[in-house]
Amino acid sequence: MPSRRPAIRPAVVVSIGGSVLVTGSDDVAYLRDLSALLRECGRRGPLAVTVGGGRTAREYIGFGRALGLTEVELDEIGIDVTRVHARLLAGAVGPPTPDRVPTSVREAVHELHRASPVLLGGTEPGHTTDGVAALLAVRLRASRVVNATDVDGVYDRDPRTHPNAKRRNSLSWPEFRALVHRATTGTAGQNFLFDRLGADLLARSGIPLFIVAGRDLPNLGAAIDGGPFEGSRIGV
Ligand code: UTP
Repeated sequence: MPSRRPAIRPAVVVSIGGSVLVTGSDDVAYLRDLSALLRECGRRGPLAVTVGGGRTAREYIGFGRALGLTEVELDEIGIDVTRVHARLLAGAVGPPTPDRVPTSVREAVHELHRASPVLLGGTEPGHTTDGVAALLAVRLRASRVVNATDVDGVYDRDPRTHPNAKRRNSLSWPEFRALVHRATTGTAGQNFLFDRLGADLLARSGIPLFIVAGRDLPNLGAAIDGGPFEGSRIGV
């Protein structure tokens, strides 16, 4: 029987939270397995991956804030850390992934014309790597953005403090944007499920967002490749 899977998957963008990458628990094994997954998925179609700064970025932003640096300077410190993480993961993925991390969306799109996957960190002050992922998705006319984070979806209440919290498997863009705008102000180092710019851009462009647990690699792979997965779907 002929396979129903398309020979080349449409472009997909993945945003990997730094809080998934560096947890202090089995990080090297995770990085190795994640890089193998990205290498595989990158062969099936164009794949761009943004990498966050996590607690390392927040620690340095905290030092800078205590020293009186401006918000823009704090954002730039965050960007530097995300680029270190992107370089680390790009090195683990190996060729043809460029080992020099692109510093703009334009450069990342250019690299993706000759290699997949392409990994990058932040670009400019004022948003997070989720915002970069959304900008890239719009430029690439991507079929979806997959946000690999430290929870397995959007909950009706904070699952860390409410054991009976229920996961929402499906949300509309207005519902999700309201949630993001309530929870974020846009200051450097702020951490929420997804960033404001990213949510606004994807909603406007009609590109769906999937939110999945980044440490569950088979599930992350399914979300990237368009198979059934556990998590939240926004705007589907
Ligand atoms: P992250 O992308 O890591 O933030 O950027 P995050 O997604 O909230 O955190 P994790 O990684 O999922 O835990 C860290 C900080 O770097 C600056 C912002 O201050 C952001 O909060 N940044 C990052 C930018 O200013 N521009 C960028 O393009 C990326």
